Amino acid sequence: MKIAIVKGDGIGQEVIPPAEKILRHFLPGAEYFDVKVGYEKWKETGTACTDDDIKKLKSADAILFGAITTPPDPDYKSVIMKIRHELDLYANLRPVKGDGFDIMVVRENTEGLYSGIEEIGEERSTTLRVITRKGSERIAKAACELAIKRGSTKPVVIGNKANVLKSDVLFRDTCIGVCKSYGLEYKTMFIDALTLDVLMQPSNYDVIVTTNIFGDILSDACGYLTGGLGMLPSANIGDAHAFFEPVHGSAPDIAGKNIANPIAAIRSAGMLLDHFGYCEYAALVEKAISASVSMGVCTKDLGGNYGTKETGEYILTEIIKE
Ligand code: NAI
Ligand code: MG
Repeated sequence: MKIAIVKGDGIGQEVIPPAEKILRHFLPGAEYFDVKVGYEKWKETGTACTDDDIKKLKSADAILFGAITTPPDPDYKSVIMKIRHELDLYANLRPVKGDGFDIMVVRENTEGLYSGIEEIGEERSTTLRVITRKGSERIAKAACELAIKRGSTKPVVIGNKANVLKSDVLFRDTCIGVCKSYGLEYKTMFIDALTLDVLMQPSNYDVIVTTNIFGDILSDACGYLTGGLGMLPSANIGDAHAFFEPVHGSAPDIAGKNIANPIAAIRSAGMLLDHFGYCEYAALVEKAISASVSMGVCTKDLGGNYGTKETGEYILTEIIKE
């Protein structure tokens, strides 16, 4: 197995090393290699991510990614978007776990309002929202497969706004068809009311599938339920590639101080293990994280006074103890 490591910028440089150590502990036989992309690279070379970088990333079975800082350049095209499109990472999985709830937001990652088809004018600007049957079908399948894998006892919730956006009729109805073909219970909800209800009654939810921008906003809002950005991992999955990253960005305000919470990055490594069938290892990662948080061995954002490195070391020690 080949694993590409992209630390990126800012706290990516700090939170990825402890996560990589944990991967190396569980998968010592894998081949690891670094790929440098991002703002620092852009400053040095004028390019944030070259075609050769994309080639290297494509050669990996899995990618562990930190975060990159967006350069202050109006013509700059998002590297994350480029990677998602080039590697066709169509399913963005964002788990949100806490006391009494365990939600998986399944966000369509390649089309919708983020299709990149825009006309920008002085007086009128438009962004085209593209929904396809193929795109809706494959994300709905990913959601149904996850519901089965998780042994979900709750309906698959299809978040949409089909009352106003007619393009969402195709999304909603395609998802319904896929749920039926899997014999799974489903429920359709309008995204605005759904977002409020998830925050008020998180234990009513398990798998939620939705379009690109709705999933982006819903999953960030769910961060409210779990102690903030430093806790939230994510996976970007395609048929040929898999990419794991914390939800947070490069956090320049706290970079280089050894105070960033490494848990989101470590959880992303846990999702990598889970995705490749090492579910027991992933469970050990979660257990070690719970132990460190409950012992108060955590960073400032969680009320602790441990550093990034020290927290990472403690979690690894807990894992090795098992
Ligand atoms: P951010 O997620 O980097 O930071 C938001 C706030 O949360 C900051 O106050 C930060 O200190 C805090 N925070 C984030 N991660 C933390 C952690 N692990 N531990 C403790 N505190 C943490 O988002 P922001 O400030 O909007 O963006 C900063 C840069 O990151 C921008 O250049 C942005 O474009 C980029 N970004 C990159 C992403 C990626 O590479 N996937 C995702 C989001 C933002
Ligand atoms: Mg976001």
